[in-house]
Amino acid sequence: MDLLQFLGISHLAPTPFGHDSAVALLDEESNLFAISEERLSRIKNDGGYPSNSIQLCLNQNNLRLGDIDNVAVGWGLEEKGVGHRINEQFCCYAKDSTNFKRTSIGKKSTHFYDHQYIHARIGYALSGFKKALVISLDGGGIDNGEFNSGGIFIVDNGKISPIKYFPLNVSLGHTYGAITEACGFTMNNGEGKTMTLAPMAENESKSDKEKIYQHMCNVFPDFNGTELRSNGHVTLDGKILHDFLLYSLLDTRLLLLKRLYNRNLIAWAAQKRLEEIVIKIVNSAVDATGIKNLVFSGGIFLNVIMNMKIQQRFGDKLHLFFNPICNDHGNAIGAVLEQYYQETGKNPVSPNMSLYLGSSYSDEEILLSAKRFNFKITKVSKIDTAIDLIGQGKVIGWFQGRSEFGPRGLGNRSILALPTEQKYKDIVNEKVKKREPWRPFCPTIIEEKSNEFLKNPSYAPYMILGFEMKNPELYPAVSHVDGTCRPQILKKDDNPDFYQVVKGLDGIVLNTSFNLAGDPIVETPHHALMTLKNSEMDALLMNDFLIEKCA
Ligand SMILES: [Fe+2]
Repeated sequence: MDLLQFLGISHLAPTPFGHDSAVALLDEESNLFAISEERLSRIKNDGGYPSNSIQLCLNQNNLRLGDIDNVAVGWGLEEKGVGHRINEQFCCYAKDSTNFKRTSIGKKSTHFYDHQYIHARIGYALSGFKKALVISLDGGGIDNGEFNSGGIFIVDNGKISPIKYFPLNVSLGHTYGAITEACGFTMNNGEGKTMTLAPMAENESKSDKEKIYQHMCNVFPDFNGTELRSNGHVTLDGKILHDFLLYSLLDTRLLLLKRLYNRNLIAWAAQKRLEEIVIKIVNSAVDATGIKNLVFSGGIFLNVIMNMKIQQRFGDKLHLFFNPICNDHGNAIGAVLEQYYQETGKNPVSPNMSLYLGSSYSDEEILLSAKRFNFKITKVSKIDTAIDLIGQGKVIGWFQGRSEFGPRGLGNRSILALPTEQKYKDIVNEKVKKREPWRPFCPTIIEEKSNEFLKNPSYAPYMILGFEMKNPELYPAVSHVDGTCRPQILKKDDNPDFYQVVKGLDGIVLNTSFNLAGDPIVETPHHALMTLKNSEMDALLMNDFLIEKCA
């Protein structure tokens, strides 16, 4: 008998604000495949209709559209463009009618789930908690037909009950995005850069810090009922998204900040304010409910420095789980998990599940792609070769197995180098990834040695948590100016080959996602080979092939 097949889609209606489209396929036996559209279209944060991803998901299980039993969407936009587009694609396979919602593709129906609710579903499902309080915060979403910028949920044995939503006009995500624009980066893409600028204001004067902090309290919403942007020039009703965003970017208070302070100070004050507000939200949610298992979801929680502060503040009193795919890509998986739960009453994923959810490539596929390039190809023992090359100070691409879902390279689509000298950070930033020289890198650390490198480490397999390093001066390529790092802590079973490589390098390696600045992470052998060609990376290891530029 054919297995039930669930397809989850994250896709905002075709508006200028579409971003992070992704698709997940889950079958009745809990096999999960997931891919973000950007990996295939090569457009960073691609918000277009994810037709490439849908096709790839179908190919995985040799399915056609007509074989899908359920389609679930995680944006809360039932009647808008996304529903229309999905209906358009799938209805030609329906037995009758043009309404996929009613007739489906034979068996069940399309389901349009609310946005923060689905952030809550994926965060809860990965957490392993039975009963938990989920705090979801992002730029904006739609639940119960209303725009919002976050929500708080109690989840008990899989049943999700919303207890509060935050209005759109106090959106932490949009505000931090506007500040990101004020710092000279791009909203919805450069927020991580703003976060890493913040500690660089360390040596600014105390009086400048006090002054900008007071300004930032006027810019950043505080959830005490103060509306960020009602200065009389623009009327906001929380539904005029376009005006809202334009206004946030042009806000006179931000322009004033730009005139008075450098961007390190702006980023520092914004980061401080964000941390204060989110800690306040956590405090009041815990006080109100008494629940001690907390799950954090929604794109705000990509801010690993803030996550570290939450961990430091509450880690000894509460059980905390940070969803590693907390942005909108993750809602493709959230949507299928919700649909699966509705059908079976069960959660098909395990706590700390692997994020190696994409495609792998055979030796034949790799050799076929490599033929198109003028590279030297040698069959080698990949683990020994990686240890040897990295140990010699080389920067290598490491392309193995199934691609990672989410924003991090976790040892299957990674660029690796030694962490022990500043020059490796400079080489990877300037000559390999071609990005700003101040941007930090992350280490991968084997679990057995995490105590040697980190203060108060806990198992953190996803690079979603920051930690203070014990001796940051010994590892300048992977520690930030404030002595913190954002590690992947790796157990042997997580990724046995990669584990052996890291172990062979004294338990710590610089690991950054396999892409050039502004590009999505590589997905196929061809993308990896193009990256080797277009950078000063020394070599590439794909499966057991060492691929090098010809002398
Ligand atoms: Fe979201």
